[in-house]
Amino acid sequence: MPATASQLASLLEGKIIVSSDILDSDLQGMEMQELVSLVLSHFSGASDGIKLLKKETLKEILAKVKSEKTPLDVEIIRSSDFSPIAKDINSEFEVRNSKIESVSSSVNDFVAHFTNRFERQKAILERNRSIQGIIDIGSMNNYMNGREISLVGMVYDKVITKNGHVLVTLEDGTGTASVLFVKPYKNERNFNADLFVSATKILKDDVIAVKGKLSNKLVIANTVVWPDIPVHMRKKTEEDIAIAFISDTQVGHKLFMEKQFNKLLEWFNGNVDYRKDLAKKVKYIVFDGDLVDGVGIYPNQDKELLIDDVYRQYSVFFDLVSKIPEYIEVFVQPGNHDAVQRAEPQPMLPKELTQGDLPSNVHLATNPSNLVLDGINVLAYHGTSLDSVIHDTPGCTYARPETAMMEVLKRRHLSPIYGGNVIVPSRDDGMVIDSVPDIVEMGHVHKNAATDYHGTLLVNSGAWQARTSFQIRLGHLPSPGFLPVYETKNMTVSTLDFNTIP
Ligand SMILES: [Fe+2]
Repeated sequence: MPATASQLASLLEGKIIVSSDILDSDLQGMEMQELVSLVLSHFSGASDGIKLLKKETLKEILAKVKSEKTPLDVEIIRSSDFSPIAKDINSEFEVRNSKIESVSSSVNDFVAHFTNRFERQKAILERNRSIQGIIDIGSMNNYMNGREISLVGMVYDKVITKNGHVLVTLEDGTGTASVLFVKPYKNERNFNADLFVSATKILKDDVIAVKGKLSNKLVIANTVVWPDIPVHMRKKTEEDIAIAFISDTQVGHKLFMEKQFNKLLEWFNGNVDYRKDLAKKVKYIVFDGDLVDGVGIYPNQDKELLIDDVYRQYSVFFDLVSKIPEYIEVFVQPGNHDAVQRAEPQPMLPKELTQGDLPSNVHLATNPSNLVLDGINVLAYHGTSLDSVIHDTPGCTYARPETAMMEVLKRRHLSPIYGGNVIVPSRDDGMVIDSVPDIVEMGHVHKNAATDYHGTLLVNSGAWQARTSFQIRLGHLPSPGFLPVYETKNMTVSTLDFNTIP
């Protein structure tokens, strides 16, 4: 319960008088219970008689608490008996950043943006052998009723008819088409339940291919195909090394898990007697955004912040990062809490936030970015669009973020629902997934996941922030304090628990 001056006065009544010039604003960010116990302990050694809590005394108490809560500067010294394999291996990496275009967001910009998205996703669909003979929607009138046709279009609208069928409006620049996915009756023979379930997952702005029979200007669909990624073998390395995935550290928030994160830093340095075999292999670390909690990101955030200055938040964050051994290459990209433009693609952090030169093993990247690590292509995206994908797609949940990550890959677009999160309407859509990644890392939803999808490894890097009151209200159960580590030679993922290490 946030503290107010009148509540404080009534709770301390009979013990301490609260000066009338203490205002609610003086107590901002304090929980009532914590404040009462702080004031009582401040006066605990005082002599009997009437005690007065003056405004200056309160300021002293709060300043002391703040300084005690400021993250400790923990010195980490690498264990002398730790001989990491990764130290003897040369790093080979390339950061392929998103192009950051500045546009005026005019109607023309949006038209160019969506045309670019459509053309690139259509090109992927045209390579799919299950859909042949694609025609322009504008030429549909040249075909007879009953004829089977194939179309590619962007979903302009999707409705459920009163009979429960899914009716989709597709457009391709030459015209619009109405496509019907018939709801199968129970016990109907030969019904294609999979097709109907797929149709319920069609989202607005999806680029899809459909095949079906013409019936009075309607296409009765029998096939729907998304651009998707093909089934493939992901690359592995000759060297026995590993990649660690971290995100949503939210430094500056009261619930940043400082103790567990310092334990993680000790682990990278070989000082923790837990899976040392794996610690020795870590050659790359990818920080996938929401590095700090930021300031003014959501209403009343100031009440939840331990550090209310964004520059100090980054100073603490990079101080922590500097404790990672120098032979490990560290990649750092922003998320929706970071102090760069909110619209995606997001640029890398500017110099004024990194406060001077970074250690030579720390590399800034855009969100999204493609990182080629010893030949392995890692698509790193913070995952802000997961909120809208989970909200709009049947079967996707926060408890299993990989379900939404698969839907994103299926669409070959990192932010498939326009308006679901803010994007830059650039002429070259930076959110299209042009090449097939070996690994996709996302964060944002604070829930770990690791699974294989068509040969691509999907990893959600979880969080290093304890469960927030917002997550409690929404019923979200995050999994903070876990580290996914991927061994690139034997292609296995381990998720290490830093919550239980003493
Ligand atoms: Fe986020």
